[in-house]
Amino acid sequence: MNELEYMRAEAPLEEPQRQYYFMKKGKELVTKLSEEAGHPLTFCVTTFGCQMNARDSEKLVGILEQMGYINEADEEKADFVIFNTCTVRENANQRVYGRLGQLSRIKKQNPYMMIGLCGCMMQEAEVVEKIKKSYRYVDLIFGTHNIYKFAELIVTRLESNRMVIDVWKDTDQIVEELPNERKYSFKSGVNIMFGCNNFCSYCIVPYVRGRERSRNPKDIVREIERFVADGVVEVMLLGQNVNSYGKTLEEPMSFAQLLQEIEKIEGLQRIRFMTPHPKDLSDELIEVMGQSKKICKHLHLPLQSGSTRILEKMNRRYTKEQYLNLVDKIRAAVPDISLTTDIIVGFPGETEEDFLETLDVVKKVRYDSAFTFQYSKRTGTPAAVMENQVSPDVVKERFERLLKEVQSISAEVCSVYKDTIQEVLVESVNDHDDSLVTGRMGNNLLVHFSGKPSLIGNLVTVKLTECHGFYYIGEQVCVKTDSEKTENKFQQ
Ligand code: SAH
Ligand code: SF4
Ligand code: F3S
Repeated sequence: MNELEYMRAEAPLEEPQRQYYFMKKGKELVTKLSEEAGHPLTFCVTTFGCQMNARDSEKLVGILEQMGYINEADEEKADFVIFNTCTVRENANQRVYGRLGQLSRIKKQNPYMMIGLCGCMMQEAEVVEKIKKSYRYVDLIFGTHNIYKFAELIVTRLESNRMVIDVWKDTDQIVEELPNERKYSFKSGVNIMFGCNNFCSYCIVPYVRGRERSRNPKDIVREIERFVADGVVEVMLLGQNVNSYGKTLEEPMSFAQLLQEIEKIEGLQRIRFMTPHPKDLSDELIEVMGQSKKICKHLHLPLQSGSTRILEKMNRRYTKEQYLNLVDKIRAAVPDISLTTDIIVGFPGETEEDFLETLDVVKKVRYDSAFTFQYSKRTGTPAAVMENQVSPDVVKERFERLLKEVQSISAEVCSVYKDTIQEVLVESVNDHDDSLVTGRMGNNLLVHFSGKPSLIGNLVTVKLTECHGFYYIGEQVCVKTDSEKTENKFQQ
């Protein structure tokens, strides 16, 4: 029996105990290699894609640190580089291949270097084939369903010296209680569900993230309580369609009910969530948002297209009118709500008329901001083989018109807060001027104001004095926490 077979035989079968066993074994191996190398082995995790991937990366970092690897911000200096990939649009994939190419030169110079690839791109068989053929220096490939097995996979690679590939088609498992290292001390993403069952016809996510499954509400609440005890004041509840939360649980529970449970957590100050699907945004949720003291007055409500004809082809299961009615209903219940959206331009068969319908919705809703995307063909999705793919020139021209409209409305909408007093969660020292700090209002707008780094993680009351389109300059008017109250005197 070799060392790896021995470990396998000895390892507990239940999770997460099995992974803690491999973290310990891995730590012994990493310590030995660090001694050989003459320096502690380092890692760098680079994340592509959405907040879901960002949260997954925090889990990867937690496991790596537990195994004795040290964080290194510079990808080119790290002994273990991990790309957590995204495949929602083709340009996300191209960036990964570009970066991988650059790493081959560096890997030749560092005998201890390993490269790991995970995330959504790895769920596509043709991607894995391409890497096996053209990027043979990659050490480890795994997918979205088995990131909890990261420690075991690293140990397998360290013991075997060959490329290790472990990608699962789907899973019904959710493994709780693994280590994770939050990027921010004061805010955190929290998975409430995984996967997606909606199959919008352009979208690859259901194929790479598998079927919808919800976490147990008790596990979610317990995790948030722990975060709060550790200094977190804001959580972002994450799911591809949070409105379907709880449907598959043994004791079904609605998303609105979950929000009410989370609202009760003492010390938690702000609740955000991403992403609700317009087709099943319930009256119950609107009511809960209207009454809540902690849920931010911000709703990201992806439109995708304003044309009912295109929406049907997209399999979005709402019409233009239903979407607009929903917006009216939300605004009636939560008058000062900020609305943001995602829009795709150039879906197959989109005509000028269809595009004008999208512009019409943009003008009617007047979003605070919008993410606009050029349609990207994803192999395996129904839209990829639809007729009348729109020519790149037309897509580009429409995209620019849309962007202009979105930006000019957004500048107008955002300017309404000038001279108002708002609560801002301070997130960082300003990138360009270190006498300023940067924070976010409940509606997600950025505010820069004069303040000390000690304000980071605090909710601060700020008067918004200058509007610069997408951000504000402000002045602190009072500080919320007791410790800060003594340190920072009233400023006007
Ligand atoms: N679950 C979320 C979105 C996940 S993907 C939702 O339903 O809103 C984030 C955004 O990427 C989508 O809202 C969509 O606007 C965009 N997107 C997804 N697939 C795309 C594609 N093939 N081409 C261009 N944009 C796409
Ligand atoms: Fe993709 Fe639609 Fe699911 Fe969002 S709801 S992840 S756009 S399939
Ligand atoms: Fe990308 Fe996967 Fe998120 S494809 S957008 S990282 S779910």
